[in-house]
Amino acid sequence: MPPSIDTLTLTRPDDWHLHVRDGEALNTVVPHTAAQFGRAVIMPNLKPPVTTAAQALAYRSRIAAAVPRGMSFEPLMTLYLTDNLPPAEIARAKDAGVVALKLYPAGATTNSDAGVTNLRKTYRTLEAMQRAGLLLLVHGEVTSPDIDLFDREAVFIDQQLIPLRRDFPELKIVFEHITTREAAQYVESAGAFTAATITAHHLLYNRNAIFLGGVRPHFYCLPVLKRELHRQALVSAAISGAPQFFLGTDSAPHPAHLKEHASGCAGCYTAHAAMELYAQAFDAAGALDKLEGFASFFGADFYGLPRNSGQITLRRETWTPPASFAFGAAELKPLASGEALQWRLQN
Ligand code: NCD
Ligand code: ZN
Repeated sequence: MPPSIDTLTLTRPDDWHLHVRDGEALNTVVPHTAAQFGRAVIMPNLKPPVTTAAQALAYRSRIAAAVPRGMSFEPLMTLYLTDNLPPAEIARAKDAGVVALKLYPAGATTNSDAGVTNLRKTYRTLEAMQRAGLLLLVHGEVTSPDIDLFDREAVFIDQQLIPLRRDFPELKIVFEHITTREAAQYVESAGAFTAATITAHHLLYNRNAIFLGGVRPHFYCLPVLKRELHRQALVSAAISGAPQFFLGTDSAPHPAHLKEHASGCAGCYTAHAAMELYAQAFDAAGALDKLEGFASFFGADFYGLPRNSGQITLRRETWTPPASFAFGAAELKPLASGEALQWRLQN
């Protein structure tokens, strides 16, 4: 594919890491994702979290009700792993079509108070998952206050992930939204049962984006943006064609007034222009020909699901997405609100 290409047609992609929230918010964010992706893995960090198969089924119906008529979109449901999620729930989850459980270390991020305090407490449930073929999706950050915020992912690999990998050699693990060179290197060498998602914002921005010209809360997410050498390592991984790296937006909507706040929420909203943002990142790296594998093939293959059959087309076109969206009674400001993009999805 020549680097100057202006039209890009891809097999319909999937988003392997997405937050859509609940209630009225669904009507804003679900149509954005459904316009681009065939499927998305839905994060379970609601308040209270989604911890049973029955809750996941009910949540799936609420999401499906927010898909605009004429669009086909399949939410892939997950459960929130807690210290005491019973192993018996795994069989019910499998029967309900749940694809994975999400591990949040307690206190690591938005709505993670019910998260795991000690991985050992979950071992019987992890054994049941390994047997049933359910994936474990990992928010890979330690939470100790004595570990520097920017080092929490790298420390997690040594303290938690390597022992976990050793104890459950055939559990499929996705290291979610990786942000460091250490994580990319780990996943590259961790074997066939380990993969990683990478967000568009971690491919496009380094940590300067949070501070340039004043604190910019809409660039604050967890794991936080890192320095430039890490961004470059993530780009190299994403464009490498290695199948263990695939697309997961981690689009995480919050009301604007809670991000523009003395203690602003973590999470960047990117679902309104997800593929446009990824196309921009791959284009900047001269690797548009590697976008389809990353966005449309490798995730489905790792999850053991069929690849999608439809297509989407992106065109090189300068346009500016809306600066904000209605979000229930509040306002939702996307990442890089008000800035022009260079690619546009065609209807
Ligand atoms: C996510 C959210 O808001 O739910 N926030 C974020 O910064 N990514 C939670 C998460 O994935 O860590
Ligand atoms: Zn997330």
